Amino acid sequence: MYAQSLNQQVEGTTAPEDAEAAARFQARVDAEERIEPNDWMPAAYRRTLVRQISQHAHSEIVGMLPEGNWITRAPSLRRKAALIAKVQDECGHGMYLYAAAETLGVTREQLVDELLAGKAKYSSIFNYPTLTWADIGAIGWLVDGAAIMNQIPLCRCSFGPYSRAMIRVCKEESFHQRQGYEIMLTLARGTAAQKVMAQDALNRWWWPCLMMFGPPDAQSQHSDASTRWKIKRFSNDALRQKFVDATVPQAHFLGLTLPDPALRFNEATSHWEFGEIDWTEFKQVLAGNGPCNRDRMAARRAAHTSGDWVREAAQAYAAKERARSAAAAGAA
Ligand SMILES: [Fe+2]
Ligand SMILES: [Fe+2]
Repeated sequence: MYAQSLNQQVEGTTAPEDAEAAARFQARVDAEERIEPNDWMPAAYRRTLVRQISQHAHSEIVGMLPEGNWITRAPSLRRKAALIAKVQDECGHGMYLYAAAETLGVTREQLVDELLAGKAKYSSIFNYPTLTWADIGAIGWLVDGAAIMNQIPLCRCSFGPYSRAMIRVCKEESFHQRQGYEIMLTLARGTAAQKVMAQDALNRWWWPCLMMFGPPDAQSQHSDASTRWKIKRFSNDALRQKFVDATVPQAHFLGLTLPDPALRFNEATSHWEFGEIDWTEFKQVLAGNGPCNRDRMAARRAAHTSGDWVREAAQAYAAKERARSAAAAGAA
């Protein structure tokens, strides 16, 4: 339903008065003003944000699954407490983001329905399995590390509710990154078997993490408008390079080897150069053929169904509260 109203707005933007509104809007964006939900905005800007914020929210929620898998098997009480807290944070990130998307005129139910119907995307990284405890370290260090690279610039995104949500999210992500790195450090300095486990996790997560930044700039569909609207501040390739530059020395400190024979430091540019990314794998995972796509969606659908009674109870309670305050107002 919102798609229809968005299309009507798109047609509306060709009217002369909207050309003026669009110019005013762009001037505000250029002046680094925040756009708020009730402000005029181009229909395509609204659509881009609904798509991006909802995909981000879905990623936080689906992202709870690979790590949730290890809560019952964490090796100590301290690790279990930290992992529960982290997974709970990811749920909170999903909630802030659904709320930010709702300010654009969609409902959380619509967005969740799209996810469960398999129509909405979420980050491809969460379709990989967590085979050992070291994967929990690798996810915190690398996946949350990549998320931070992507999300810090979003704290300055032109859309107010998204930028504000990102400030808290980034603070929490930096805790996630550190707890992951500390798991890796413990394993890397542990027994030979633990070091092998850490290396194996790094080998499996490294390339999918580089894919998290999205397709190369030359093939990226959404970049131009997003950059002009100051939703996106850095290109996919620039963020990927920043991540590689920050992470390679961290891997060296752990005494681990990155699974890329082409990796070399370029003295002239001061950047780490890396090998070709297998974009066929990325496309396959996005198309639903990753190792865990089906499991992830089945788990989300089962969770939604088993939560039916909670939603019904909350609605029944809200209806009773409304009736009670209506009765009180009538009596007064
Ligand atoms: Fe998160
Ligand atoms: Fe996180």
